[in-house]
Amino acid sequence: MEVLEAIKSRRSIRRYKTTPVDDKTIEQVLEAARWAPSWANTQCWRFIVVRDDNMKAELASTLTPNNPAADATRNAPVVIVACAELKRSGCYRGEPTTDKGDSWFMFDVALAMQNLTLVAHALGLGTVHIGAFDAKKAADVLGVPEGFCVVEMTPLGYPDQEARTAPRKELSEIVFRDKFGG
Ligand SMILES: Cc1cc2nc3c(=O)[nH]c(=O)nc-3n(C[C@H](O)[C@H](O)[C@H](O)COP(=O)(O)O)c2cc1C
Repeated sequence: MEVLEAIKSRRSIRRYKTTPVDDKTIEQVLEAARWAPSWANTQCWRFIVVRDDNMKAELASTLTPNNPAADATRNAPVVIVACAELKRSGCYRGEPTTDKGDSWFMFDVALAMQNLTLVAHALGLGTVHIGAFDAKKAADVLGVPEGFCVVEMTPLGYPDQEARTAPRKELSEIVFRDKFGG
């Protein structure tokens, strides 16, 4: 699938078929994540592939009340959890180098997960970025060690819905010329 077509046609998927996803396919989406750019090539990301039903249920229980992706987290054949090593991205010798502090790991993980979701879509798979959950609780569930945190998770599986297109702002609303607001 052509890149712009993949970008434009990907949608958040919150209902999945029970059809399993094989290891080779999962490796393909993880490979896309692996090739994302990152701060000084620090590659702070780590990915946990969750297939176990009890673990998926536990992860679903960390989502915010009424999170529309909760059932998908419980029922999709796979959930991929993206973690990050702290004090690496945007840091030099463990100290932040910009006014953003130790938050550039969010950026790097987002780039990796965007790659992952786009390649998943090109392979006919659905995903939904999930950010609204108790990341500390999820880290406990998954045994994430100190110095790392959980950033986001996504179910992964074959879509069982026609996803609705969420409209986007027009370029005229978000692009300025030479100066902010210009
Ligand atoms: C950082 C981030 C966090 C998100 N968190 C959630 C979430 O917790 N639950 C959910 O159902 N969707 C979540 N979404 C999905 C967005 O609602 C969705 O991407 C947006 O409405 C645009 O729809 P589309 O992905 O179909 O284009 C999240 C998306 C992003 C980028």
